[in-house]
Amino acid sequence: MELNPAPDHAPQAGRPAPDLVVTGRRIVTPDGVRPGAVHIRDGRITAVEDTDTAPPAAPRIDAGDQYVLPGLIDSHVHFRTPGLTHKEDWEHGSRAAVTGGFTTVIDMPNTRPATNSPELLLAKADEIAGRSLVDHRFHIGLDPERPELLAELDPAVATSSKIFMAGHHTAPNVVRDFATLEKAFAAAAQGGVQLVLHAEDDELFSLLDGWWGAPGSYREYEARRPRSAGIVAVAKVLELVRRHGTKAHILHLSSAEEADLVCAARAAGLPVSFEVTGHHLAFTDEDTARLGARTRLSPSIRSRTDQERLWDAVREAQSATIGSDHAPHTIEEKTRSVQDSPPGLPGVQELAVGVWTGLCRRRRSQDNSDRAAELLARCLGSGPADLFELPGKGRIAPGADADLAFLDPGATWMMSAADVRSKCGWSAYEGWTFTGRITRTLRAGRTVWDLATGAYGAYDGRFLAGPAPEGDRRG
Ligand code: DOR
Ligand code: ZN
Repeated sequence: MELNPAPDHAPQAGRPAPDLVVTGRRIVTPDGVRPGAVHIRDGRITAVEDTDTAPPAAPRIDAGDQYVLPGLIDSHVHFRTPGLTHKEDWEHGSRAAVTGGFTTVIDMPNTRPATNSPELLLAKADEIAGRSLVDHRFHIGLDPERPELLAELDPAVATSSKIFMAGHHTAPNVVRDFATLEKAFAAAAQGGVQLVLHAEDDELFSLLDGWWGAPGSYREYEARRPRSAGIVAVAKVLELVRRHGTKAHILHLSSAEEADLVCAARAAGLPVSFEVTGHHLAFTDEDTARLGARTRLSPSIRSRTDQERLWDAVREAQSATIGSDHAPHTIEEKTRSVQDSPPGLPGVQELAVGVWTGLCRRRRSQDNSDRAAELLARCLGSGPADLFELPGKGRIAPGADADLAFLDPGATWMMSAADVRSKCGWSAYEGWTFTGRITRTLRAGRTVWDLATGAYGAYDGRFLAGPAPEGDRRG
């Protein structure tokens, strides 16, 4: 079967005919869930209509009772190019992404070399060209030797910068001292750069490691990476935001206290936001005790109470984004000794269905499934699109890119190793029974993933330059 049949461009009375119409009873738009027809032409949405009024000749895809979501955005992936492609590469990573409903990702800079300069970042864009099923942007790494560079960062290159406040196996260029951190916050405020922060306190980690020595078990490792390190680092970030007015997005919040702190700061008017990850929503320290290396993460997975606080943050729309922190390592690397096993797990493929499953399980009497679909479209759509200035992304609306994901809300399925699309070939969710399945993903009006055929589309995802006044200089 042809994945993308040739469009019929015959002009119709009044306006150009759509080259594709997506119909369905549950289209998730910014105004709510509604039945209708999404008209698409040349990769963009031209209209969202209540009924199917398109010319009969236009090709159609009927989503039926499935939710039609905006193509999802994961603002936190590690696709490992350049230099770490034995763990992941863009062919595999972007296949995992579209299989999970994602059409846009923002990739992290802890590669080899670290993507810490505009030159390296543009070279990375060139390396990825022709290898990605998804559109992409990059968080530029902070160079601790030159934090002042953020004051003049060209938004056509990057609109956001990643700072690691604590070190671990895959975190280069850690900013350990407060003075450098403050310089970075001041420069980012001057340059209008959105900071994204791994906020854990490295000084505390060093003290604990020095006092206790190397861990001999996962339990001992977790004791050296306590919740207090996150709370201290978040408090430092909030103080710097207060001083400089910097836009700061705190990644992978793991504890209830951190969520409460950031919410208080937001209520006081600070331009601070936070991310919750799929794995902090999916797992607890009971799983860590059972799964060991597979759920070893930085920050660590915490208690059931923390997990429920993070779910509240999602349900109450407190978290601006949900990220996968898709951070694959080979199983050989993960099963090294406790000291040498790197933190991180793959997760972009599992993120949306994992969140959907969790929302269904936690459904309260006043909730309905349309509300859950709207939450998904917010945390994985309009939320990251607005925070990172991704025009045309994250919403089903006229003028937007025709990026769509179909979610079959009631499908139940068990994930096995054979389903894994990441190059690392394993998933911490193996054996999980998910509620909800992504059955089709379209980017720029073309199908890039279809569950029925198992086929993927063209590897022509675009590098998304930021909103520079002179336009996209990469053409
Ligand atoms: O668990 C993690 N893995 N946390 C990070 O901050 C980085 C990531 C990785 O790159 O492996
Ligand atoms: Zn990460």
